[in-house]
Amino acid sequence: MKLTIDNDNAILLVEEGGSRSTLDLYSPEALELVSLQWVRLGWQMKYPYTFSWLGRPIIQLPEDMVRTQEVIYRLEPDVIVETGIAHGGSLIFNAGLCRLMGKGRVVGIDIEIRPHNRQAIEAHPLFDLISMIEGNSVSPEVVGKVDDLVGDAQTVLVILDSNHTKEHVLAELEAYHHLVTPGSYIVATDGVMQWVHDVPRGDPAWKEDNPSEAAHEFVRAHPEFEVEQPPWPFNESPLEKNVTHWPDAWLKRTKA
Ligand SMILES: C[S@@+](CC[C@H](N)C(=O)[O-])C[C@H]1O[C@@H](n2cnc3c(N)ncnc32)[C@H](O)[C@@H]1O
Repeated sequence: MKLTIDNDNAILLVEEGGSRSTLDLYSPEALELVSLQWVRLGWQMKYPYTFSWLGRPIIQLPEDMVRTQEVIYRLEPDVIVETGIAHGGSLIFNAGLCRLMGKGRVVGIDIEIRPHNRQAIEAHPLFDLISMIEGNSVSPEVVGKVDDLVGDAQTVLVILDSNHTKEHVLAELEAYHHLVTPGSYIVATDGVMQWVHDVPRGDPAWKEDNPSEAAHEFVRAHPEFEVEQPPWPFNESPLEKNVTHWPDAWLKRTKA
């Protein structure tokens, strides 16, 4: 796709597959296309690898963090289960929200919790709200430990941010969806891979092999879930779509 930003005439020229169209530069549709290009450039430049939260590196697009906060504040989960700890930033982000709300705790899983990360997370003032499990997120042993830690919690949110192959995400969706309570979500993050398969830091296989593919396949087999972008609690704009690394990620449990 070729995009030409024509500031002088306030239009966005879009050329793709031999066809040309013109959009009002100051329209939601133009913002969507330009944002997508910004996301692709940001992927290449490792933009999400530039943030920290309360002292720990967090590998996320800030837009996704704010949207996650909106969901957590609305749901008030008793437990947030996360696969993929890395440096611990998302654990600390979610645990911080739990502390502020006076409700909830976090269970994190990673196949390898590096000693310096473990040490920093354990020394963090929010660690009393965090449990960590080291192991493969889809192994029955790990899933059993998560089940034990979740116990009889009423509202559970699950965020999948570990290995992002379609096969692994599908296995995680199968392994953890039983924890998700009606009205809550299981989140298959990083479907952005489908959009960045052709940037230099991408991989052609990601066009098909990505978390969004897993999410859609899962929902086809589980009618109790549906793909839903969580509603924005505040919106005084003409916009409706998240700027995100998590397209089609939020799977809402609509039925028991
Ligand atoms: C993208 S990072 C997580 C980022 C973190 N959630 C954050 O927001 O900062 C992915 C993590 O998943 C872990 N991982 C990869 N494969 C895994 C698996 N099979 N089971 C559990 N964790 C895995 C990696 O070790 C890595 O730390």
